[in-house]
Amino acid sequence: MKGVVLAGGLGTRLSPLTRVTNKHLLPVYNEPMIYYPIRTLVDAGVSDIMLVTGGNNAGEFLRLIGNGEDFGLKHMNYTYQKNEGGIAEALALTRHFVGDDKVVVMLGDNFVQESIRGAVDAFRAQPKGAKIFLKEVENPEEFGVAELDGDKVSRIIEKPADPPTRFAVIGIYMYDSGVFDICDTLKPSARGELEITDVNNEYIRRGDMTYDFIEGWWADCGSFEALLRSNNLVAREHGVTD
Ligand code: G1P
Repeated sequence: MKGVVLAGGLGTRLSPLTRVTNKHLLPVYNEPMIYYPIRTLVDAGVSDIMLVTGGNNAGEFLRLIGNGEDFGLKHMNYTYQKNEGGIAEALALTRHFVGDDKVVVMLGDNFVQESIRGAVDAFRAQPKGAKIFLKEVENPEEFGVAELDGDKVSRIIEKPADPPTRFAVIGIYMYDSGVFDICDTLKPSARGELEITDVNNEYIRRGDMTYDFIEGWWADCGSFEALLRSNNLVAREHGVTD
């Protein structure tokens, strides 16, 4: 199982914090944001990791993370996303790294409280297809939202104005190596990006998608409010309450 952490983009929604640095280098309590997804993957038993960086400060990731020594790793792989083409475009850049393996992809601004090891092990045993995580949230219209039909996801709608459920699709995705052929077929969405939701809907259409609910809290850093919430949640984990 390969691991991919996506840390491209310009983070314009967080300007001016992101004017002179990359969003994923911003602090979340006592560590740079990017530390958390890397640690989540390593804790899940995934140690062969590629980091996709981008923007104007990509070199700083190398300076910060090096060969992953802070995470007990011996090596870290890097690639560069030139444009703001979306999550699926960034994932497509890792094709040669993943090869015929499976891959667990984590967005560089996502945080989960609990280990995902159980789900990663379950996906290792899943013969093919994809697996996503869902979390019930108060503000589903800000995320990809899953519609359920019995024990299956029947559809994912990206940031729906009128969400059919409160189940957000969080930013950790597991795929077989067929994902790259799906990426090749994508067309840019209204926001000009190759959407990971379109990738997931293709797996759903094929009947090859499974899901788990994520235990514990989940947070991302897509907005100032979300960044503050992530800081507070992480600080609380360290026993800081005010
Ligand atoms: C992305 C995905 C969305 C997902 C979210 C999780 O949104 O498109 O489906 O729910 O990450 O953080 P974005 O941050 O690109 O707006």
